[in-house]
Amino acid sequence: MADDKLNEKLADYVEDAHAMEQNDLKMIDSMSSTTDDPETREMLQNHKRETEEHERRMRARLDALGRGTSARKQAQAVGAALLKGVGDRARGDKAGKNARDGYTAEPLEIAAYELLERLAEKAGDIETAEAARQNRADEQEMARRIGASWDRTLDLTLEENGIRV
Ligand SMILES: [Fe+2]
Ligand SMILES: [Fe+2]
Repeated sequence: MADDKLNEKLADYVEDAHAMEQNDLKMIDSMSSTTDDPETREMLQNHKRETEEHERRMRARLDALGRGTSARKQAQAVGAALLKGVGDRARGDKAGKNARDGYTAEPLEIAAYELLERLAEKAGDIETAEAARQNRADEQEMARRIGASWDRTLDLTLEENGIRV
């Protein structure tokens, strides 16, 4: 009985992670469409490919856990909220806003996969634990990349506003 509940909980978590990745794909597309900077675009396209893989990994685990597509939750509006929420007044600051939103999104994913990995281990599901670890490693790398680009982000933002310093 306890095992049933644990497995249900595990499937819920995988479902949430899957919805999160679907959301992130939308967010990355939205960010890509608002940047002309080749370097930023490449970083986003790279993480888009990773994110598609994350989505596939979670979908495969959902199938293995017996959760069909029809039973799945709709993607939660976390990404959309992040995109819309803060600082919408600051038009013409896309580079800075995109970097901020991306930088905020990655730790949400990292936290989700830290918990999912542990839950999967408790449930004895080593494949799901491994999938969570693999996804988390990409999120950590993406957070690191964004974190290493603040100077460039500010330069691009100033450039967008026609400010030379
Ligand atoms: Fe991801
Ligand atoms: Fe990510």
